[in-house]
Amino acid sequence: MHPFKLPVDLADRATRERAVARAREARVRLPTFDEIADPVASRLPASKDVDPDRPDPANLLRVHWHNGPDRRAPAPVPGYVELPEALTGVPARIIVALGERFPMIGAHKVLPAYACLVVRLVTGMFDPTRQRAVWPSTGNYCRGGVAISRLMGCRGIAVLPEGMSRERFEWLDRWVADPADIVRTPGTESNVKEIYDTCAALARDPANDVINQFSEFANYVVHRHCTGKAMEKIFAHVAGKRPARLAAFVACTGSAGTLAAGDYLKEKFGAKIVPVEPVECPTMLYNGYGAHNIQGIGDKHIPLIHNVMNSDMVVAVSDRATDDVNLLFNSPAGLDHLKTRARVPAATVEALGSFGISSIGNVLAAIKVARHLDLGADDAILTVATDNASLYASERAKVLARDYPKGFDAAAAAGAFARHLTGLDGDHVRKLDHRERRRIFNLGYFTWVEQQGIALADFDRRLDQGFWNGLAQAVPVWNELISAFNRDAGTA
Ligand SMILES: Cc1ncc(COP(=O)(O)O)c(C=O)c1O
Repeated sequence: MHPFKLPVDLADRATRERAVARAREARVRLPTFDEIADPVASRLPASKDVDPDRPDPANLLRVHWHNGPDRRAPAPVPGYVELPEALTGVPARIIVALGERFPMIGAHKVLPAYACLVVRLVTGMFDPTRQRAVWPSTGNYCRGGVAISRLMGCRGIAVLPEGMSRERFEWLDRWVADPADIVRTPGTESNVKEIYDTCAALARDPANDVINQFSEFANYVVHRHCTGKAMEKIFAHVAGKRPARLAAFVACTGSAGTLAAGDYLKEKFGAKIVPVEPVECPTMLYNGYGAHNIQGIGDKHIPLIHNVMNSDMVVAVSDRATDDVNLLFNSPAGLDHLKTRARVPAATVEALGSFGISSIGNVLAAIKVARHLDLGADDAILTVATDNASLYASERAKVLARDYPKGFDAAAAAGAFARHLTGLDGDHVRKLDHRERRRIFNLGYFTWVEQQGIALADFDRRLDQGFWNGLAQAVPVWNELISAFNRDAGTA
């Protein structure tokens, strides 16, 4: 599929009919973008009995931010945690939306996977009876893609670097139809070029449809529309308790899909948009490169769907900090330090297992932004916890062996807290002016125009905010197409 041709028209009637027949057989009811954005107001049906982690089509109706704590029934306000000053060292209100409540993969990346596949299905661009969906990723998007493919009764192929966390591979082993559907590429998180090369080879077989999150505008649209609105609900809720100004939306960028929620929040509230990357792979800040361990982000290039020209600041966080805080939040000594020494409220301490490595990166970046902008107690920063700590037990074991061979004890916990939270450095924070934005934008040229064959005119269209605002106009069209598909499948 050409990234700049949004699938808004019927491409092939016979293909769509086969997809409809498959949905009828599997009893698949597809949620619309509006239903995902507000499942409570739109009365999206949810079956409380279905296990949120089972491959059951009912779980498609839980692909949204509004799942309650049991992940079964929708709640009016999406799950979030507000972090107190005792933990962050700053008075600003740092509010973190919880991705762990998403079904099947316990991470919000199942949302863009759904969006990118559904727009193909309802326009007859993807045949679930004959084609395989290929999901290039560094771990969560491909899990989401494999889950969605399975529910739609089609083959899903995960393409990811061999160095990603063991827990991701264990999950994939349980979910793929065939072990050959897990394709391991060389390297770790930032080796995305190797993923692209493997996908290019797979794409030579017409039965493979590569659904590239880095260049699929449905990824942008679903986050702008659905994640944006979910964040708005959270903000309205916290501001209802105590008035606040939304100062910024902060998000570590992998595909930069999540960051699109910032475009919505800027339009509504004037929030600043802050993409975040690892210090060890500072592509946006310094045109840099390098390996790192903040899994899911820092992919050594500028994604095609990143609306760079609307960003206000860039922040980098070190994986040394995220690795240490991952131990602090998930070890007896760490939790004890937070509770008894730092006097972090017990409810907050209990919630810290909801933060995976990149979620910690988001929190640390939000602290840097709060310091840099000198934000006060009436200012709020919104961010996300894409996944939770359960995906990284193996990574904690590696960090323990590498940095704390004698164990992560009270002194280690105190050191990590002082270094990375209350005493977090203010380095690697940059406000963007037009020239700096343009520098980052230009960097994408080498990937997309030179390497991936995007036409220069298309690449440059993204300089204009009108282009991005125009993308959002696909939402009502997709809502209609999805509803019509459900009606034809007899599942509406
Ligand atoms: C754990 C984790 N954090 C953050 C991200 C970045 O999200 P996005 O791709 O929307 O920029 C990803 C993406 O896969 C991820 O898996």
